[in-house]
Amino acid sequence: MTEPALQEGNKRVVLAFGTRPEATKMAPVYAALARQPGITPLILSTGQQRTMLDEALAVFGLTPDEDLNVMTDRQTLADLTARIVPQAGRTLRAMGADLVLVHGDTTTSFCVTLSAFYEGIPVGHVEAGLRSGNMAEPFPEEANRRLTGVLSTLDFAPTPGSRANLLREGKDPHGVFVTGQTAVDAVREVAGRVPLRPEWREKLDAGQRLVTVTMHRRENLPVMADMARALADVAQAHPDCHFVYPVHLNPAVQDAVRPALGNLPNFELTEPLDYAQMAPLMAASTLLATDSGGLQEEGAALGVPVAVLRNVTERPEGVEAGVLKLAGNDPDTLRSVIGGLLSDEAELARMRSARNPYGDGQAAGRIAQAVAWHFGLVERPADWA
Ligand code: UD1
Repeated sequence: MTEPALQEGNKRVVLAFGTRPEATKMAPVYAALARQPGITPLILSTGQQRTMLDEALAVFGLTPDEDLNVMTDRQTLADLTARIVPQAGRTLRAMGADLVLVHGDTTTSFCVTLSAFYEGIPVGHVEAGLRSGNMAEPFPEEANRRLTGVLSTLDFAPTPGSRANLLREGKDPHGVFVTGQTAVDAVREVAGRVPLRPEWREKLDAGQRLVTVTMHRRENLPVMADMARALADVAQAHPDCHFVYPVHLNPAVQDAVRPALGNLPNFELTEPLDYAQMAPLMAASTLLATDSGGLQEEGAALGVPVAVLRNVTERPEGVEAGVLKLAGNDPDTLRSVIGGLLSDEAELARMRSARNPYGDGQAAGRIAQAVAWHFGLVERPADWA
């Protein structure tokens, strides 16, 4: 992507993020802001995740304007916080930020928001208003997104339900916009542009079904080895399925899953996949089994059923629409839900035909218009209905 020119008088909007999913979901927002007259978008990376973030940026041709490079091996949440907070505000000030946009619920989002607040720089929160109602799950994401929402000036809620959560917490409706999920914009664009890897295409051609698996959540770590053993049982019971699990680089995740899943003929453990490989893999899958937040929306956007490996979800719209099923993190339940789905073609077909409740692929354009409205440049955008 070509860099937008820094035009005299343009408002500087800094997109601040540090993890792979934030980069993926902010990439469409950057592109939409770059097209918006009067606005110059800039990128501040915290580098919370080094390799995985850089790979995600490369898929969209983005380069950070500033990079705090905070990641260390086996970093704790406190380590991250103690490194991001003092540097972020100072850097935003040096970048001349008129507004900073953060995303979702990571430690980067909350720490950049706090630091910007101390500098008097307003914050716009993309993917605002998601709530599981449980501070322990997902941990610490539920706290991160609530804390971010206390300080943000503009809130871009993906759905009417997330807007309602924000108003219930007392947010001023004037600053809240219903935009749809930018993940819908991103996954459709990439899955439509990049073909499936040839070795997975061959599996499909040979009549096998693909199942994409991801697990990395902190609150699942204590039971992750048992969850992995349950997935191994499911794989053995379904030799017609080829499971692909790109394992997160977190060493604690690697230690938990490799022993149970490393030696099965139909269970492929891969390095983290960049989004250009992940999006077509998800689109070609029969089922996604995941504890990720983003994959729940991506499955819904692609019409692929999702078994959610958590006890609660902050994305209830997909459960109501019928494309998501909560499988929990108890190994027995997980075995029966996922095994049951893979044996029930009628149920999978019902899930595939559910409507997508997360957006229409135009979220980034609405966010860019709302940002321009904030600066008095254009009309307020209509909410996504
Ligand atoms: C973070 C986010 C989570 C998001 C996830 C996506 C928080 C609290 N959590 O969780 O919401 O779903 O990212 O990936 O912000 N590592 C590497 N290389 C990398 C990335 C990670 O080696 O490119 C290792 C490091 O040892 C690091 C550890 O993984 O210490 C954990 O990464 P971190 O970003 O702190 O937390 P996640 O659990 O990935």
